Amino acid sequence: MAEKEIKKIGISTGGGDCPGLNAVIRAAVYTAINKYGWEVVGIRDALNGLMDTSQTMPLGLNEVKDILNKGGTIIGTTNKGNPFHWERQKSDGTIETIDRSGQLVENFHKLGLGALISIGGDGSMKIAQQLVEKGLPVVGVPKTIDNDLSATDVTFGFDSAVRTASEALDKLRSTAESHHRVMVVEMMGRHSGWIALHSGISGDAHVILIPEIPFDLAVVAKKLKERNEKGDKYSIVVVAEGAVPKGGEMAMVGKKADGTVILGGMGQKVGLALSEMTGLEIRVVVLGHLQRGGSPTEFDRILGTRYGEAATELIAKKQFGKMVALKGTAIVGVPITDAIGQTKKIFPEGTLVKVARSMGICFGDR
Ligand code: F6P
Repeated sequence: MAEKEIKKIGISTGGGDCPGLNAVIRAAVYTAINKYGWEVVGIRDALNGLMDTSQTMPLGLNEVKDILNKGGTIIGTTNKGNPFHWERQKSDGTIETIDRSGQLVENFHKLGLGALISIGGDGSMKIAQQLVEKGLPVVGVPKTIDNDLSATDVTFGFDSAVRTASEALDKLRSTAESHHRVMVVEMMGRHSGWIALHSGISGDAHVILIPEIPFDLAVVAKKLKERNEKGDKYSIVVVAEGAVPKGGEMAMVGKKADGTVILGGMGQKVGLALSEMTGLEIRVVVLGHLQRGGSPTEFDRILGTRYGEAATELIAKKQFGKMVALKGTAIVGVPITDAIGQTKKIFPEGTLVKVARSMGICFGDR
C-alpha cells in the first residue's frame, strides 16, 4: 500500500513548561509551511487536546510570528492527563484509571493529522513511544530545565534556567556579603543536579549539594566555619531540590494525584541545621518556578529553532519514533527509546565536578 501523503501535522508541548518551547513551535511551523506546504495545528495542553478534538488551534505563520523570545508555550501544557492512565472520578467519588489512547488515535485521524511533534521531557517521551508502538507517526523534541533526559547532550530550557539561577546567585551574593550571612539557595533538579552544578560554578557558590553526591552536613558546616574564620564572612550554599543527606531521604511537600512526588523543603532543612551547627546567620531562598519562566537565552532560542526544524525534517523523512538530539555540535535523530531508558545524571567523578572541586567548591561529601 502506498504511504499516505502528509498534509497536516500536529504539535504538542507536555510536562512542565520552560523557555524555548515557542522557539521550537515557531521553527517547526516555518519549516512545515514554507518548505513543505503542510498545515499545522497546535494540540492544546499536552495531549489532552487530542482527547477532545475541539482542543486544537491552527498554527499559521501569523500565530507564530513574534514568539521566539516569549517564555512558556502558546499552545499550553500540563503534566496531568496520561492517555494510557487517564484518571476519572467514579459515581462513588473514587478515582479509576482507564486507557484512553484508542480515543486519542481516533481523534488524531479525525483531524487528518499525518504526524505529531511531541515536545517534552521524560514523561512525554514515554507516552510518545507508547503512541509509536500503537502505530502513530510521532517524533520527539527533548525539553526540560532539569537537563536530565538521556540521548541528548542538552535539553532546551536548561541554559535559560541556569541563567536565571546564576543571576539570582549574583544578586544574593551582594546582600549576603553586606550582612555577613550564609545564603542557602534551593533550585530545581529532581533526580539530577545539573542546574545546581552549572549555576553554582557560574555563580561562584561555595557549596553545591546535588542528588548524585549524598551530603554530610558536618562537612558543609566545617567548610562554612573555615570560611568565616579566615575572614570570608559570607557564603553561598546551592541545594538542588532532590539533594539527599547520606543515608537520608529527599524532602517532599506532598504527592500529586498520579503519585508523583512534589519535591521541596531541602533548602529549609539544610538552612536550619547549618544555623544550629555553625551559629552563623542563615537565610533560605527557594527559586522554584522562577527558573521555568521568562525569555529564553540566545542559546535556547537557537537550540529550540534547530530542534523544531530538525523534528519537521524527521517527519519529511518519515523517521518516526525518533527524537531530535544535540550530539556535540550536530543535531541528530535518535530512537525515542534511547532517551527514556534512564535519567541522565551527573557523574560524580566527572570533569565538571572535578573543576568545581579545584575551585574550592564543597559538595558536602569530603
Ligand atoms: O521537571 C521539571 C521540574 O521543573 C522539576 O525540577 C520540578 O520538580 C518540577 O518540574 C515541578 O513541577 P510542577 O510544575 O508540577 O510543580
